[in-house]
Amino acid sequence: MRSFTYELLPGRVVFGSGTIVRLPVELDVLEASRVVLISDNMAKTDADQIESDLGGRVVGRIGEIEPHVPIEKVEAARRLTDDRQADAVVTIGGGSTTGVGKAIVLEKELSFLAIPTTYAGSEMTPIYGITVGDVKRTGRDPRVKPKTVIYDVDLTLDLPTEVTSGSTMNALAHCVEALYARERSPIVSIMALEGIRALKRGSMVVAGDPGNVDGRSDLLYGAFLAGASLGAVGMAIHHRICHVLGGTFGLAHGDANAVILPHVVAYNREAEPEVMAALADALGVAEPAQGIRELAETLGAPTSLAELGIKEPDLDRATEMIVDGVGYNPRPVEREWIRHLLEDAFAGRPPSAQ
Ligand SMILES: [Fe+2]
Repeated sequence: MRSFTYELLPGRVVFGSGTIVRLPVELDVLEASRVVLISDNMAKTDADQIESDLGGRVVGRIGEIEPHVPIEKVEAARRLTDDRQADAVVTIGGGSTTGVGKAIVLEKELSFLAIPTTYAGSEMTPIYGITVGDVKRTGRDPRVKPKTVIYDVDLTLDLPTEVTSGSTMNALAHCVEALYARERSPIVSIMALEGIRALKRGSMVVAGDPGNVDGRSDLLYGAFLAGASLGAVGMAIHHRICHVLGGTFGLAHGDANAVILPHVVAYNREAEPEVMAALADALGVAEPAQGIRELAETLGAPTSLAELGIKEPDLDRATEMIVDGVGYNPRPVEREWIRHLLEDAFAGRPPSAQ
């Protein structure tokens, strides 16, 4: 007998190759006629194309995105939507770009359509973050989830290798932690395991052939499922560690994920034998922690904190911050273990259960 609670989140998803041409029709569905278009540097060319295709429907543009969604940028963007009497926000870019769109619609009643170009998965979640000073406040609010998401694999074909590797490992971590989350459910596990299979398959192809459409399609599909999983449950100790390493020590979220995930999987293995067996099966490996480490290596992702600029004396402070803010984890979190994990991760040692 199992029992669970699963809340379906509303939203429309268009997935495929060349789907960007559907944008005008999808804006019609949203009854959007005055669009503020937000893009990051990487997506500039695609955003230019969208602006010329939409003609007078684009009434404002933002083309510079800073990481972690600073409140000053959010307020300027909100003012722009007011000044131009916009009725919709369209974002095209990575997680920080989607994040600006979320921060706008948190306080403004506008339609929101997102076109993600990385594997961050933010477009499928009601989670937002805004940085005030040096503190990033995060929250959950159903209003911030985009009403429509267009996934176009063609926009990801030339994603740089270092973005691909970190972003893929971030998506993989969303799937893995969804499997043992406190709010887990059979539906979320189906999505997460399918996401893991797709991310593994895509990684093996894209590592040797970065522009391969089938490989890129698998990665984007896996990222969509990872985002949908992340949107339905809370995360565990892995994401706590990555947020401290990112928020306080400036590590890119994807890089932190690549280094830390194998160690966390090794630690949680004994507490969740059935989950770990399913994870190993989805990855097609005998030992999931080692399998994830090898996947990171295949993608060319970092495997040590030292190479990311963390200094050994930082490990004490990081340990304290992680333990102080710790939430749910299937195996209770012990200070000594966190310290030990960070030492292993710092040195790039293989994952080992304590
Ligand atoms: Fe993440």
